[in-house]
Amino acid sequence: MSAARDFLFDLSGISLPQSGNYTWKSPSNIALVKYWGKSEPQIPKNASVSFTLSQSHTVTRINFEKKALTEERRLQIFLDGALKESFRPKVAKFIERIKEYVPFLDFYHLGIHTHNSFPHSSGIASSASGLSALALCIMSLEKELNPKMGEVYFKRKASFLARLGSGSACRSIEGEIVVWGKHEAVQNSSDLFGIKLTSDIHPVFHQYQDTILLVDEGEKEVSSSLGHHLMVGHPFAEERFRQANDNLKKLLVVLKTGDLDEFNRIVEGEALSLHAMMMTSQPSFILMKPNTLRIIEKIREFRKNSNCKVCFTLDAGANVHVLYPKKELDPVKAFILSELLPLCQHNKFIQDASGPGASQFLEDYF
Ligand code: PMV
Repeated sequence: MSAARDFLFDLSGISLPQSGNYTWKSPSNIALVKYWGKSEPQIPKNASVSFTLSQSHTVTRINFEKKALTEERRLQIFLDGALKESFRPKVAKFIERIKEYVPFLDFYHLGIHTHNSFPHSSGIASSASGLSALALCIMSLEKELNPKMGEVYFKRKASFLARLGSGSACRSIEGEIVVWGKHEAVQNSSDLFGIKLTSDIHPVFHQYQDTILLVDEGEKEVSSSLGHHLMVGHPFAEERFRQANDNLKKLLVVLKTGDLDEFNRIVEGEALSLHAMMMTSQPSFILMKPNTLRIIEKIREFRKNSNCKVCFTLDAGANVHVLYPKKELDPVKAFILSELLPLCQHNKFIQDASGPGASQFLEDYF
């Protein structure tokens, strides 16, 4: 299973149900080695690896209702019960991108109900959790049409479809650690879907804590697609892709040995490299805010003085993810509450941790 054609679906001889609905809860993820730069169709320029989160998630139900092939599709998306016209273009584009692989969708009106565990304007991107949840609901319908489908194929195709919506979404199907992108050191790794890392992970990485500090709750200043595009012709692009693949190789060793000093060096270096790419692109973007830098300084100072193995990472924004092992929850949490929260907008944070991945709801959620 390594080519896109492996994910095509043959409709001949299949009888489609009149209606159906499926609900999935799918998590967000935080990259340790970052994906930044891609080619068509959503092929990453380097491999990346992430923790799947357990608290930051999206719950989505799709109602499928049969229609004639010639009839125009009704596509309605509700966020917390309210119709969101503004979500339509992104979902319609996603459906367009995946239709070759899920041709049965052409026969259905779609009613989508969704809820995020985090506030929409919190600066936490909902694309990874949102698009992976959609992909899983669609895969549940495909499974009904092809009951013999195995679990590995189900998850791989869900990841494959999610990737076509938003690259990092393909790392949100399974947990706790997922690699996306072909890499010589990871068996079965692929540019087309994420795979769960299974080979003896050190127990310190189980339920690894991630306190997400909401430094800036605004909408994203740079969309991911613009951001990835900034890597085209970027003077440091090739070196960056090489560095990321190199860091992934080093991190794989760390994930086995549990060497947290090296973990912190790699993870912080990755976050700063991602931001360095944005600061040195044309046009350039400085997405960190003054308080992002203050928080980074305080984390480094605390680490030096306390010997706690805490580090930070950043997404393409100002919010800070504070990462640390579960056994250090008490001292690090006390430090965060007294020193870092005052630097967050409205003192807001999300207490998260690495977790097991997406799950299906069999009872009614909405
Ligand atoms: O999945 P996208 O296209 O939104 O890109 C995500 C990019 C980063 O979050 C900055 C890095 C990553 O690997 O998740």
